[in-house]
Amino acid sequence: ASILVLHGPNLNLLGTREPEVYGHATLADIDASLQATAQAAGHVLESLQSNAEHVLVDRVQAARGDGTAVILINPAAFTHTSVALRDALAAVALPFYEIHLSNPHRREPFRHHSYFSDLATGVVCGFGADSYRYALDAAIARLHAG
Ligand code: DQA
Repeated sequence: ASILVLHGPNLNLLGTREPEVYGHATLADIDASLQATAQAAGHVLESLQSNAEHVLVDRVQAARGDGTAVILINPAAFTHTSVALRDALAAVALPFYEIHLSNPHRREPFRHHSYFSDLATGVVCGFGADSYRYALDAAIARLHAG
């Protein structure tokens, strides 16, 4: 199946961005590892990072017609602000997993609300780069369960 991974704003800076919060892995490291896991399980995985809300909205919209089976998304700061990205995910009605490197619930109050969690199949947060790995493992298990 086709798995789409979306990364929101500032995640292109991973590795150098507040490493005490987000860890030392770069986005390229994370994507390469997800790619290897998906491929080994017989799936195709595509990753996209953007700092622009409309690019992410457009990619989610396109997922409706391109055979995407599941979306893994770290909306980053858009988690707490983007009704538009939430609405796009609701519109395409594909299962999605919400991912965060940090645990937003133990951080500033403005990070406690997510526009995505009540629509997500699952939410994985607080495990650094492993949050992506756990979410992908769960998504693959569900795909195989049919
Ligand atoms: C984040 C948490 C968000 O609050 C923050 O704006 C990010 C990254 C995370 O992965 O921990 O950019 O989504």
